[in-house]
Amino acid sequence: MAVREIITPKNPILRKKARKVTNFDDPKLQALIDDMVETLFDAPGVGLAAPQVAVSQRVIVVYLPDDEESREEYGQDAGVLHILVNPEIVRASRDMVDGVEACLSIPGYYGSVDRHAAVTVQGYDRHGRQVRIKARDWLARVFQHEIDHLDGILFIDRASEIWRAVPQDEAETFDDPLAGEVTVIESEAEAGE
Ligand code: CO
Repeated sequence: MAVREIITPKNPILRKKARKVTNFDDPKLQALIDDMVETLFDAPGVGLAAPQVAVSQRVIVVYLPDDEESREEYGQDAGVLHILVNPEIVRASRDMVDGVEACLSIPGYYGSVDRHAAVTVQGYDRHGRQVRIKARDWLARVFQHEIDHLDGILFIDRASEIWRAVPQDEAETFDDPLAGEVTVIESEAEAGE
C-alpha cells in the first residue's frame, strides 16, 4: 500500500469522465483501492475518487471518522469504510439541503452546495458483488460529491458561493489550485474543516 499524490484542477484528468471498471480480478484495481484508502486516511479526508489520484476509473472510497464528536454527528454512519466501484445514484430525495463542502483536490477552498438530503447508491464492492446503500445527511452529501468526481464535476461547479480560507501557517507556501479561475468571497485566513 502507498499514499498516492492527490491532483488538483491543474491536471486535466480531474475533469475527465472516468471509465467503468470491467475486470475485478485485475491486481491493479485491488492495489488502486488499497492505495486510495491509505491516501484518504493520510490526508485525512472523508471521501476520495480515483480521478483525484490521476486514475480515470469509477472507484470511490468514503469514510466518516468515528471519534466521539463524529459519532454524535453521524450516528451509525461514523467509522464505516465504503469502497464502491461503478457507483450510481439510483434514487434521490426531492428535498435538498445546503452545506459547506471542501475537497482534497482544491485545498484552501470551501463552498456552499445544495445536495439531495438522501440518496440510494448502487454499485459493486471490490470483488464485484453488487451493493446498495441508502444514505442520508452528511453521508449522502459525500457520496454525491465523490460520484460527481467520476464525471469530472467539482463542488466549485455546483457551489452558490465559494470562499478561500487558507490556514495562516500555510499562507506563505500556498499554491493556489484554482489560480483565479473562480469568483471567491475573500475571507480571513481561518482553519477548520
Ligand atoms: Co472532492
